[in-house]
Amino acid sequence: MPRDSRGHLTPGRISPQRPVPPSIDRPEYVGHAEPHETGLGDLYSPDEIEAIRRSSRIAADAITAVGEAIRPGVTTDELDRVGHDYVVSHGAYPSTLGYRGYPKSVCTSVNEVICHGIPDDTVLEDGDLINIDITAYLDGMHGDTNRTFVVGEGTPEVVDLVERTRLALERGIKAVAPGREVNVVGRAIEMYAKRFGYGVVRDYTGHGVGRAFHSGLIIPHYDAPQFDDVMEVGMVFTIEPMLTLGGIDADIWGDDWTVATRDHSLTAQFEHTLVVTERGAEVLTTY
Ligand code: MF3
Ligand code: CO
Ligand code: CO
Repeated sequence: MPRDSRGHLTPGRISPQRPVPPSIDRPEYVGHAEPHETGLGDLYSPDEIEAIRRSSRIAADAITAVGEAIRPGVTTDELDRVGHDYVVSHGAYPSTLGYRGYPKSVCTSVNEVICHGIPDDTVLEDGDLINIDITAYLDGMHGDTNRTFVVGEGTPEVVDLVERTRLALERGIKAVAPGREVNVVGRAIEMYAKRFGYGVVRDYTGHGVGRAFHSGLIIPHYDAPQFDDVMEVGMVFTIEPMLTLGGIDADIWGDDWTVATRDHSLTAQFEHTLVVTERGAEVLTTY
């Protein structure tokens, strides 16, 4: 059902909202149209970094649990259930649930969907690509991470895109150092992606994360010198490059969330939350 005659994804049926036990602390934006807590800064004390490490650990392990459920025939809604149950059973809140009206606990972005795909009754097929993005909120801190999986057996072109997107994130992470401007991250990512002729999405970026889901700090994934914030020890943000086999223009579906490549080219993404240390980046969402 949720694919058209050319095999392109179309919106499916979204299941009722999953409950979160009342004992679990919710971010301030839940139940409001948008967050009011922004501009809380991007620098964290060692104790605060430990808290972000805990929420990041849950988010990363939830993706691993979802990954074990990925196979041809499973729906993206079932993957949302696995991710939701993992986060909630570890005492955390799934940050996307109720964020600016987003209805689910996981983003499931299949094939030409760049990001923010909503779990629904879409059935995964052999050779599909799927990105799983989960953010967990615990003790006042968000940890945000995503990975792309190949469903069953992928073509070499698809397998290469996924692996090189993961390596592009690695390049970005290696460019992190205190005293450098954040634009070094995007320069490293774009330079690597261009070797393969991949499109590098510009409209969605990395971001400060911790006290706020999206702090206001922007980390571009392409060469953009105007983003000149200087990295400091104790700064926490995500890097989350999206690469495509075609163009970088995006369309947003009528659900106001799903972002897809205009040319329907396949796309992959990987994301880590990290803290800047004297020696470079320390990744908090390892797997
Ligand atoms: N986790 C995504 C990010 O990496 C944001 C998802 S917001 C949602 O920034 F509302 F779409 F879930
Ligand atoms: Co993010
Ligand atoms: Co994310």
